[in-house]
Amino acid sequence: MLSTLRDIVAETRLTPENFMMPIFVDEELTEPKEIPSMPGYHRHPVSSVIEVAQRAVDLGIRSVLLFGVPKSKDERGSSAYNSRGAVQEAVRSLKSSFGSDLVVATDVCLCQYTSHGHCGLVVRDRKCRGKGCWKIDNDATLEILGKVALSHAEAGADIVAPSGMMDGMVMAIREALDREGYEDVAIMSYSVKYASSFYGPFREAANSAPQFGDRRSHQMDPRNAFESIKEAALDVEEGADILMVKPALAYLDVIRLVKSEFPHYPLAAYNVSGEYSMVKAAAAMGWIDERKVMFEILTSIRRAGADIIITYHAVEAAKLIREGYNPF
Ligand code: PBG
Repeated sequence: MLSTLRDIVAETRLTPENFMMPIFVDEELTEPKEIPSMPGYHRHPVSSVIEVAQRAVDLGIRSVLLFGVPKSKDERGSSAYNSRGAVQEAVRSLKSSFGSDLVVATDVCLCQYTSHGHCGLVVRDRKCRGKGCWKIDNDATLEILGKVALSHAEAGADIVAPSGMMDGMVMAIREALDREGYEDVAIMSYSVKYASSFYGPFREAANSAPQFGDRRSHQMDPRNAFESIKEAALDVEEGADILMVKPALAYLDVIRLVKSEFPHYPLAAYNVSGEYSMVKAAAAMGWIDERKVMFEILTSIRRAGADIIITYHAVEAAKLIREGYNPF
């Protein structure tokens, strides 16, 4: 009786519709390959994307987020807007199989596609002397991001998700899309993205670690919370449709803050690779109850105010929900 009472008055609920499942699409693979630092998670060839998505859809998941792992990289990341690239091909095949039953979002960033691994074009910093004199050319990057987003929209993407934290990226992408008649493609902006060490396993998965330097010039300082309001406000002004906070777990206060400042905007939170790997590692050691911890984490992200949780736990969690699992 007590547990029924607790269930009916519970403030927060988890449903599979809350989850957005990331999929790594690797141009070089012919079969799925497990990511060593993310036990149970795989990179996929374009040919197995339908099967992965089908499993998710059968469990009630309604959205995926695609990341590409290309064969070739160059200084300008030009393979990112190849209309025959892995992401573009995967979008086409998902949309033709699932139509409106599945929302297909794509990551728009250059870091997997550039030889140096940065999210934007790298140029020499003339004001600086000595070693390490480089900087990101923000404005030149915007034009390329517009091309990438357009190539995803042409393939049929419902949402494009710029993750590089370049200033003005949302507006540049909105203009590039509208110019070609893609007014109804939504933009989910990684508005509030911290320079975090929780992205480690992802960089292994996507082969996107910077070859030199780091991302502190354009990602946020973990010591700042109120700055998130400024970042989100800029994206709102530029026309973002969905906002995002990333990572999730160490930034629950920021999720709450952004949701209370912009309650009329859907908010996504990215439960990132390092958060997933920590759960898997501790569970493998027998130190935590994996299912309970997973539910507690996902619930806390919802409780903080996220509408959408981008999570590598999506399928496992949806399956448990379907089976009626309830650890509370
Ligand atoms: C950048 C990008 C990153 C992640 C998603 N998009 C890595 C980064 O900023 O270095 C990380 C996601 C994760 O850790 O799960 N394209």
